[in-house]
Amino acid sequence: MNTQPSAAQRTAFRAVSALRTIGPPRPLVLTLLALGFSALLLGRAQAGGSHYYPPVGNPVVKEECGSCHLAFAPSMLPAASWQRMMGDLKNHFGDDASLEPAVAAVVTDYLVSHAGDRGGRAYSEKLLRGVAAGSAPLRITELPKWVREHRKVPDWEWKHKEVRTRANCTACHVYAARGYYED
Ligand code: HEC
Ligand code: HEC
Repeated sequence: MNTQPSAAQRTAFRAVSALRTIGPPRPLVLTLLALGFSALLLGRAQAGGSHYYPPVGNPVVKEECGSCHLAFAPSMLPAASWQRMMGDLKNHFGDDASLEPAVAAVVTDYLVSHAGDRGGRAYSEKLLRGVAAGSAPLRITELPKWVREHRKVPDWEWKHKEVRTRANCTACHVYAARGYYED
């Protein structure tokens, strides 16, 4: 009987010993790095090191408010803002974003109950600092704190063809859709 390893077995053995000496092939290393990176982000967010605004979790809101732009995190504006905005979707920043009344009711309920001034969300408190109680700003990008956080962003960056508008959060915050805002 032939006890010599077959060519295939020899190749497999060589591959395994190569792994032992030089470590896993590059794609695996990259995968581990990627996993490590998101774990790190998550860890930092939980430890309070990263700014986390829970993304929209309701599929109806995601669909209806995420088709023209990022479905903005409800905790970035106070409840009064969402009520005001939902009260006039026909004139929504120059667009008609009207919804069927039943759908609008679901969306309003979700946005209002997850608003920045409902429940103790650490970062919302910071973002809404300087917003007078009872006022209803319609733009996140006009909140005093938002403006201050972005004061160092140069003019050419806002005008860059990949950005174009301040409302295009995901152009600069690649994890915005997951709720993480860091540069
Ligand atoms: C038909 C397209 C469209 C739909 C649908 C839409 N929006 Fe908008 N929205 C816009 C446009 C256009 C702007 C202005 C963007 C800009 O300034 O560049 C805007 C801006 C906003 C802003 C202000 C962004 C800032 O500057 O801080 C908020 C908040 C917002 N939308 C929330 C919503 C919500 C909530 C819904 C769902 C009910 C919704 N949008 C659905 C088109 C849309
Ligand atoms: C042109 C790029 C750009 C766009 C577009 C942009 N941001 Fe930012 N954002 C930045 C930069 C850069 C910083 C960091 C400022 C600093 O640390 O000095 C920042 C900081 C922040 C912070 C504070 C985070 C921290 O770690 O301090 C929040 C929250 C934030 N952005 C939210 C938003 C939201 C919401 C939008 C969209 C409505 C948006 N940004 C659009 C570039 C951008």
